[in-house]
Amino acid sequence: MARYIAVAIALSILEMATCTVRFSNLSYELNPEYIKGTINVKIDKEVYSIGLNADVLKRIDGMFWVMPVFSKKIKDSYVPLVDLKLDTCKTDPTLVENPVIRLIAAEAKKFVSFGLMCPYEPGHYTVNDFTIDNNNAMMNFIPKGSYHVSINTHHQSFGSNDLNKVMSLSFYADFE
Ligand SMILES: *[C@@H]1O[C@H](CO)[C@@H](O)[C@H](O)[C@H]1NC(C)=O
Repeated sequence: MARYIAVAIALSILEMATCTVRFSNLSYELNPEYIKGTINVKIDKEVYSIGLNADVLKRIDGMFWVMPVFSKKIKDSYVPLVDLKLDTCKTDPTLVENPVIRLIAAEAKKFVSFGLMCPYEPGHYTVNDFTIDNNNAMMNFIPKGSYHVSINTHHQSFGSNDLNKVMSLSFYADFE
């Protein structure tokens, strides 16, 4: 019995160790009134990562809406599994109810040079080679397959009715 358990554990470790994520077809738009910089996918020894290097030009406070949509490819179309709207001036993304967003936010914190909660002060912001490596809890959580991720963000300052687009991002992620 113990032997079977040991083999099962060894196999699942092996399976985790062979998990990879590949990012592709990244595109993004930045509102130049708010933010200037670049976002890119880097491939280093077959490890895919996403980096950001940007300057935030004005203070972001009031309401900052982040709208992530995660879709999984099922047959020939991408079906949204997560489609949220969250105000990071009110809610810490690492504490949201949705477990996928919570995990990604907790993971993202390791790669960013800033706090995830608004307000965001003007200054230089970086995301250093965000990746999802094979010893990450997310790998057990996300079924293998092809995903599309899009994130839109809008700012609404105190006492204003205007929603200003700050940034939008779209990419594919294949978990293999
Ligand atoms: C990524 O872009 C290439 C080139 O434009 C395209 O052929 C491919 O279908 C795109 N991939 C996905 C998953 O849409």
